[in-house]
Amino acid sequence: MNIIVFSGSPRKRGNTDLLADAFVAGATSQRANVEKIRLIELKYSPCIECGGCDETGKCILKDDLTEIYPKIESADVVVLASPMFFYNITANSQALVERSQAFWVRQYVLKQGEIGGKRRQGIFLSAGATKGKLLFDGSLRVMRYFFDAIGGDLAAALLIRGAEKKGEIKEIPGALETAERLGSCAASNGDYSQIEGLWVPGGKNK
Ligand SMILES: Cc1cc2nc3c(=O)[nH]c(=O)nc-3n(C[C@H](O)[C@H](O)[C@H](O)COP(=O)(O)O)c2cc1C
Repeated sequence: MNIIVFSGSPRKRGNTDLLADAFVAGATSQRANVEKIRLIELKYSPCIECGGCDETGKCILKDDLTEIYPKIESADVVVLASPMFFYNITANSQALVERSQAFWVRQYVLKQGEIGGKRRQGIFLSAGATKGKLLFDGSLRVMRYFFDAIGGDLAAALLIRGAEKKGEIKEIPGALETAERLGSCAASNGDYSQIEGLWVPGGKNK
């Protein structure tokens, strides 16, 4: 079981980075092979719409994402942890999403079949300072299409409202515990319906 966790906040040990760490702890407890990557530490550009992937399904840009593509191909679970910035995922996260265009081309234009020969689960971890009902709506849609592009399905999301200051997530009852359970579940049976407080497709909880 290969799990890759992208942490998209610029803030190390911030709220979503802590959610990512708790997820990693849960997944590691089930002996999954887990790699966490802080996107801010990589140097890469957004998609430049050069069309270079149209022929081969491979991104022709050479930067720090070049070695990330094969890791996504071999992953069984891909996690993106990002705070809400202006009702969206962070720019680093969005640039990663855009760069998945090569995978989209591979599947939907070149019809090369499943990415890495298998489907994968996608999980979204997020936090925002406000408590608005619609806070995560736009990003959930982005996640649905991101995970589809990389040959997966958005299987579950943990969406935490009311967390603003660095580390404040520790004071939100159940947040980190739920992230850890989510990690453990992702690495074992993948049945998220038993975990309270999660967003799941078709569910009521957002
Ligand atoms: C540039 C910026 C934009 C933000 N926009 C929003 C927003 O639209 N809605 C919201 O609820 N919180 C917003 N926030 C607050 C963060 O989402 C919140 O502090 C979050 O817990 C940060 O997570 P992190 O510690 O993982 O970076 C914003 C913060 C920053 C720095």
